[in-house]
Amino acid sequence: MTGVKIVGVGHYVPERVIDNFELEKWFDTSDEWITTRTGMKRRHWASENEATSDLALAAARKALADANLDPTDVDAFIVCTVYPDYLFPATACIVASKLGAPNKAAFDMEIACSGFIYGLTVASSLVRSGVYKRILLIGAETLSKLVNPEDRGTAILFGDGAGAVVLEASEEDSFLGSELGADGSKPQLLLVEAGGSRHPIDELALEEKTDRIHMEGREVFKFAVTKMIEATDSALAKANLTKADVDVLIPHQANKRIIDAAMKYLEMPSDKCVINIEEYGNTSAASIPIALSEAVGDGRVKPGDTIVFVGFGGGLSWGAVAWKWQ
Ligand code: UT7
Repeated sequence: MTGVKIVGVGHYVPERVIDNFELEKWFDTSDEWITTRTGMKRRHWASENEATSDLALAAARKALADANLDPTDVDAFIVCTVYPDYLFPATACIVASKLGAPNKAAFDMEIACSGFIYGLTVASSLVRSGVYKRILLIGAETLSKLVNPEDRGTAILFGDGAGAVVLEASEEDSFLGSELGADGSKPQLLLVEAGGSRHPIDELALEEKTDRIHMEGREVFKFAVTKMIEATDSALAKANLTKADVDVLIPHQANKRIIDAAMKYLEMPSDKCVINIEEYGNTSAASIPIALSEAVGDGRVKPGDTIVFVGFGGGLSWGAVAWKWQ
């Protein structure tokens, strides 16, 4: 076994900014409701011509530049997304080709908002076991295109964006521990029902908007708080660490109140937690790598820091990774 470390980070969000006041024009909602219930002020939405791979590509280029690497130096490309360009081929194949590395391993991972946590665990394992030396791991989403425009409860929550990291084999090991979990017994809590093999899209689906995101927010909220805490505790225990050892918490950005509740339990002061939900809303699998890229960029993450990445989402699914920044 070898170790793994992150040698480059980058993120990209579309130019178009939608603030809460803009949403007031389209929905029966208010800046006050959105701010107090979610912590969101703005989100970035992709244009009609921008697909998930375009965002992923922009973030990937930045991460490669940060790592001072050429795309051909990378052995495998992984895109974590719940809304790929196509049902198939995988978005990662498109990204790798457009980067100029067409003959490498490339695949997508779909585990909704937990995507980056699962992706980081899988990619780290592939590097640590010696299968690949370098992996480009991307979280990318364009969920503004998948929301139900008639449902104010979900349409205001999601933003678009992508974050990328380059993982590389290393003598010292950044990967300290991971906890992943899933419970598929209640898919109806958070799903897109139509468009898969169980319910191909038909006229009824279009009429009832079952081809769009449906979420039972209150139920997901309760689950999210519990699982964020449990997953963080388990990942730290596997790393032989306690919550006092954590320098930086980088949570999935779904709701400021969920993050606050978890921070309170974990007894973490707010300056230890990276929160950018105000600017980007919920970017699903992209939220954690975007937050990491920003925090590395402005010095909130420093060499030697112990980081906990923690996420949750559709599945239902959850996970946390304890990581030493090198
Ligand atoms: O990343 C994937 C995981 N997703 C999440 O973690 C999301 C978890 N859930 C949440 O963040 C919250 O449940 C929401 C932000 C989605 C909703 O907040 P809430 O405090 O749970 O509100 P609620 O759904 O219980 O609704 C409260 C009220 C309702 O009105 P009544 O029935 O009390 O009259 C809703 O109809 O707020 C109403 N409401 C709105 N009002 C203004 C729902 N959406 C809106 C809105 N503007 N956009």
